[in-house]
Amino acid sequence: MKHALVTGASSGIGREFALQLARRGYRVTAVARREPLLRELLSALPGEGHDYLAADLADPAGVAAVAARMQDARCHLLINNAGYSVLQPFYQSGLALQQDILAVNCGALLTLSHHFLGQAQPGDALVNLSSIVADLPTPAQPVYSASKAFIASFSECLWQEQRDRGVYVMGLCPGVTETGFIQTATGGESAGESLPAALTQTPAEVVSEALAALEKRHKPIVVTGWANRLMVALMPRVLSRFRLLRTLAVIGDPERAL
Ligand SMILES: NC(=O)c1ccc[n+]([C@@H]2O[C@H](COP(=O)([O-])OP(=O)(O)OC[C@H]3O[C@@H](n4cnc5c(N)ncnc54)[C@H](OP(=O)(O)O)[C@@H]3O)[C@@H](O)[C@H]2O)c1
Repeated sequence: MKHALVTGASSGIGREFALQLARRGYRVTAVARREPLLRELLSALPGEGHDYLAADLADPAGVAAVAARMQDARCHLLINNAGYSVLQPFYQSGLALQQDILAVNCGALLTLSHHFLGQAQPGDALVNLSSIVADLPTPAQPVYSASKAFIASFSECLWQEQRDRGVYVMGLCPGVTETGFIQTATGGESAGESLPAALTQTPAEVVSEALAALEKRHKPIVVTGWANRLMVALMPRVLSRFRLLRTLAVIGDPERAL
């Protein structure tokens, strides 16, 4: 039985990955901080042998515990999904908070990718959660945008590096997805209700597209949703960098509701 480890599995896209992978016969290890949600997830997963690990991925000890879990039970698929943002002016927010975002989004992802690829065998796969903000940076969340650009570039390079080993690496780039992400980013002030429905996907849609791409094992970067693919393809071409940044600055502007 194949074993998948999913970080950030307590909610949103990670929870959906755990559910869809279990339906496809994977044994799942679910990682996040909120243990009650992980326990609830485990009871909802079809199949047997699933487990969870409560770990804080901003803490090196938490990351080490996850790496040790991969060492103990060979992992065929790693979904580096845990991540978050805050919509606050960079210079007014706490430096520790911005460093924490970088630690979870990039630091933990880098360490776990290194452990995973060190033991990976042909046929195995690594999926790293980037975002369309890798191509369309949103000025209201500079550290988050930069972290997702790092993940996309890192994943593309690893895709090429790992091809000859038969290990597939994907940088997954969703756009706006109906999860707790915006609530976390706005400190509970918005859930993104006013965002246009055409631009919004459900976690089930994102994960179904990701798993279809995982079967094909072609592309280093997978952008989910036709509207997102259109925006990523067109906006950097038709807008100057100046206009692009001015346009994207609307997202998270306190004067306009999300
Ligand atoms: N929603 C979107 O619009 C969107 C778009 C593009 C990309 N993404 C990316 O998709 C990924 C999943 O986000 P989501 O949308 O599903 O949001 P979400 O529902 O808020 O899920 C975030 C997950 O990350 C976990 N996490 C956060 N900080 C952690 C830490 N210090 N240690 C361990 N786990 C931590 C959370 O678990 P605990 O709180 O229980 O620890 C939670 O399970 C993120 O990387 C995000 O950047 C989201």
